[in-house]
Amino acid sequence: MNNTDLVFQSYGRCCRKDEFFVDFYDFFMSGSDTIRNRFLKTDMEAQRHLLRNGIMQLILHARGMSDRKLRALGESHNRNHYDIKPEWYTLWLEALLKTVRQHDPHYTPELGKAWRDVLNPGIDLIRGAY
Ligand code: HEM
Repeated sequence: MNNTDLVFQSYGRCCRKDEFFVDFYDFFMSGSDTIRNRFLKTDMEAQRHLLRNGIMQLILHARGMSDRKLRALGESHNRNHYDIKPEWYTLWLEALLKTVRQHDPHYTPELGKAWRDVLNPGIDLIRGAY
């Protein structure tokens, strides 16, 4: 199986429980008050659903799907809109990896590496639109 298939299946195991997304935002926000403050007025229930789809877009991008949806995320996150600083994406990915490690019963360090390799090009696209 190639990396994108491994990550696709791992994500399927993670998504079985909504707690995956609850834990992700807990980890992500606990790293920095600046990040927590960005979500003060956010409906987190809705945000968790949006993120579920957003991570899927990153994986589909690695599988060769069109850039259109990621370019739209790049636009909404850039300096003129949510103003998400490029360095925050590192925290985002670390929080995600921590959550995967905790939730996927088949987690291995190699699988963690596969997640990084699969997601990074899509993350770079969003971050690069800053
Ligand atoms: C909104 C995905 C990184 C903060 C969203 C939405 C999606 C999403 C799907 C909703 C659609 C939209 O408004 O365009 C992602 C993905 C990321 C990422 C896939 C990583 C590659 C970040 C980072 C931050 C952040 C690093 C830093 C704080 C926000 C905020 C919103 C948002 C503040 C709007 C919340 C609201 O509507 O109140 N994100 N995001 N995102 N994201 Fe991200």
